[in-house]
Amino acid sequence: MSPETLIELAKEAMTHAYVPYSGYKVGAALLCADGTVYQGCNIENAAYGPTVCAERTAFFKAVYDGHRDFTAIAVCGGKDGVITGFFPPCGVCRQVMREFCTDDFRIYMVGVGDSYQERTLPQLLPDSFDPKKHMKG
Ligand code: THU
Repeated sequence: MSPETLIELAKEAMTHAYVPYSGYKVGAALLCADGTVYQGCNIENAAYGPTVCAERTAFFKAVYDGHRDFTAIAVCGGKDGVITGFFPPCGVCRQVMREFCTDDFRIYMVGVGDSYQERTLPQLLPDSFDPKKHMKG
């Protein structure tokens, strides 16, 4: 699947965001190794702490369904769903990517119009705590 197609699915996912507190809508589209795509949006909470990001919504949906191998994720976001710049996943979501993804996992940070920036996981999370190195034999 092309980055462009994955990005369109992330933009569609953004419309599902539940954001009564920040008004900041985020969408993600996660590509599994078998070609399946899982979409996610951010889901906020009145107690703030339980809020979950779009990326983790997508990952947890996929993992629940049995997926463990992932190829790429596209992420976009903006106040009221209006994209004004490249969207960088938060640190917690980067660590969740580290749990399941290898170093060649691609992150497409969506920007204005057709623009996007492509990163690998080590670029976004250098010197990471990697379960494959530190937790498993
Ligand atoms: N958010 C995400 O969905 N993903 C990120 O990587 C960073 C932040 C959400 C959480 C909250 O609902 C809103 O964006 C503003 O922080």
